[in-house]
Amino acid sequence: MTRIRLGLNIDHVATVRNARGGAAPDPVRAASMALAAGVDGITAHLREDRRHIIDKDITALKAVCDAGDKPLNFEMAVTAEMVAIALKLKPHAACLVPERRQERTTEGGLEVAGQADTVGEAVRLLTRAGIRASLFIATDPKQIEAAARMKAPVVEFHTGALCDAWREQDRGLFDAELHKLRVAAELADELGIEVHAGHGIDYDTVPFIAKLPQIKELNIGHFLIGEAIFAGLDTAIHRMRALMDEARK
Ligand code: PXP
Repeated sequence: MTRIRLGLNIDHVATVRNARGGAAPDPVRAASMALAAGVDGITAHLREDRRHIIDKDITALKAVCDAGDKPLNFEMAVTAEMVAIALKLKPHAACLVPERRQERTTEGGLEVAGQADTVGEAVRLLTRAGIRASLFIATDPKQIEAAARMKAPVVEFHTGALCDAWREQDRGLFDAELHKLRVAAELADELGIEVHAGHGIDYDTVPFIAKLPQIKELNIGHFLIGEAIFAGLDTAIHRMRALMDEARK
């Protein structure tokens, strides 16, 4: 089976920095260290309220990724402001996510089917600029089929409910969510869409997810940045990498 890529979501370093309003800890330094430790790319979400990543981080992260010849995955809401920033920045990929001011994190998948005009237009503009558009969606056939209709090259499945079920030790729900992920990954793959997954993944849940052969990339943030406090970023990344490789054997 092919090697699965690991993207590190760096937002949480910026959350800690912004708690004090200074320059440390620097998400760009963390991204450099993560790339040196072997991650395959950096993901960063420039939110409308700039609560963690800010505009100058994104520019600096793009430069660090370019210098390491690694992709930057720019997470963004489907707004005119963010589309304009993406078109100027020209990251390798742009992951379109739903965004609500009140939420602590990206809570659900993007409603693609019900917003085909706006999302489709964003996909078209990004694709025309050479940016790989990815849609962060639930494991719902309706959303996958809508993504295929708008010719999105990539979908990222929201694994939040699956990972929450594991932590809450609800084995029935976990199995049901894993089944949905498997079926969704198969459908997207059949429709010619590259499959990614992310949200809430940790050392316990990664083996189940990385095992699915259609999944080409995982984007992991909160757990790895948290674990870095105890083990160091390098060690945390290596352990996650080893678990992903083990699952693929
Ligand atoms: N992928 C997307 C699209 C996300 O919005 C997030 C959360 O920022 C992640 C992956 C990573 O999730 P987590 O931080 O829970 O690992």
